[in-house]
Amino acid sequence: MMKEKRTGFATRIGAIAATVGSAVGLGNIWRFPYQAGENGGGAYILVYLICIVLLGIPIMMSEFIIGRSTHKSMKGAVEQLTPGSPFKYFAYVGVLGALLICGYYSVVCGWVVEYLWSSADGTLLGHTPDQYGKIFETFVGTPQRCVLWTLLFLVLNFLVLSRGIQKGVERMANIMMPLLFVLLIVFCINSLLLPNSGKGMSFLFNIDFDELGWEGVVDAMGQAFMSLSLGVTCLITYSSYFKDENSLMKDAVTISALDTLVAILAGIVIFPAVFSFGLEPGSGPKLIFEILPTIFQQMPGGTIWAVLFFVLLFFASITSTISLSEIPITFMIDEYKISRGKAIIITAVLMTAVAVVSALSFSTLSDVELFDMNIFDFLDYVGPNFFMLLGGLVTAVYVGWILKKEVIHDQLTNGGTRRSRFVQPFIIFCLRYIAPIAIVLIFLFYTGILDAD
Ligand code: TRP
Repeated sequence: MMKEKRTGFATRIGAIAATVGSAVGLGNIWRFPYQAGENGGGAYILVYLICIVLLGIPIMMSEFIIGRSTHKSMKGAVEQLTPGSPFKYFAYVGVLGALLICGYYSVVCGWVVEYLWSSADGTLLGHTPDQYGKIFETFVGTPQRCVLWTLLFLVLNFLVLSRGIQKGVERMANIMMPLLFVLLIVFCINSLLLPNSGKGMSFLFNIDFDELGWEGVVDAMGQAFMSLSLGVTCLITYSSYFKDENSLMKDAVTISALDTLVAILAGIVIFPAVFSFGLEPGSGPKLIFEILPTIFQQMPGGTIWAVLFFVLLFFASITSTISLSEIPITFMIDEYKISRGKAIIITAVLMTAVAVVSALSFSTLSDVELFDMNIFDFLDYVGPNFFMLLGGLVTAVYVGWILKKEVIHDQLTNGGTRRSRFVQPFIIFCLRYIAPIAIVLIFLFYTGILDAD
């Protein structure tokens, strides 16, 4: 029985749009292409797709089951479902992961604001493809500018959050996500019409495992989790606001399919252009910031396209940071019974600290290295490849092995009103065996503890 009634999302479409809003973000449009570029394209994408189906969807379901069956965030949910279970302490790891991820992620959001600003005032376009790389490096090397945009972004983020779930998050997601989709399709067509676009397509879809290696496999798996917003209890938090009538499986499949489609579309926008303009696919986090201006420039009315695109990317980003910020906020409200306002302020202070440090890691703090990476790159690595994968493993084991079957059955069938003859065994099999074994094995290969040869 539900004790306290939460204000849910107004409609099924609203709930999906907000969850898609969380899923679709810089992960799809900035991170997926640059990671695919660094890991040789096709084989990485194949592994990514396999991870979405066999790990991503089942783990998304496991988060939904925990959140919707209790209408609570992770800690309260585990206490209610399995009193005394130590799994509840994982909630702290989720909150920490969310703070770190959102911190460095906001820096990239700051870059998007800078590019939005400079395309609107007409200074972005009009350079050669090589120059765009240099422009980006000069910009991230300028501490004041980077920090300023990141802070501005965070202020907007927390302003939206202070208006509450339904009004803020849902309304924005409803308008912006479909528009982003349409725009990406226009850009895809444009990229496919460029000379030599075929090379980019074969980079994306030709499968060559020699290019990948275990590190690439870990990257693809981490990216799948990042893109679907898994592992740091985000979807537990969101689904705690879901209504009890929806089919969780249908929602999970819809959300994952849309999210994956956006990532692939982003790849089709970026790579034909990379090859057409003779640029380097493996240039890392700056990839889209050097390619996109080059693309806009050759389109008639380039400035307008640039502004429109960065506006939509801004909205895709903010619906993601909102969902990340909601993790500590809901946690504090549920756990310490403080007001939403107070929880927002505490979260804002902590996230801003992480964000400022990450924003400075290309300039003032560029000498600070963690495992041979600057602070930003380090967070971009450990966020997905450690926090999310570990979190995914924990949720899979919890729902697969610990949680009572009746709770899972009840959630999959909505109290016996729907059938789930094939879904339930598939999900349970993936959660019990495939996800834990795959995550652990891939790590053992990656760290060299096991040797594939
Ligand atoms: N999925 C988002 C993206 O692809 C990032 C994100 C939003 C996220 N919320 C999350 C990642 C929660 C992990 C957990 O851009």
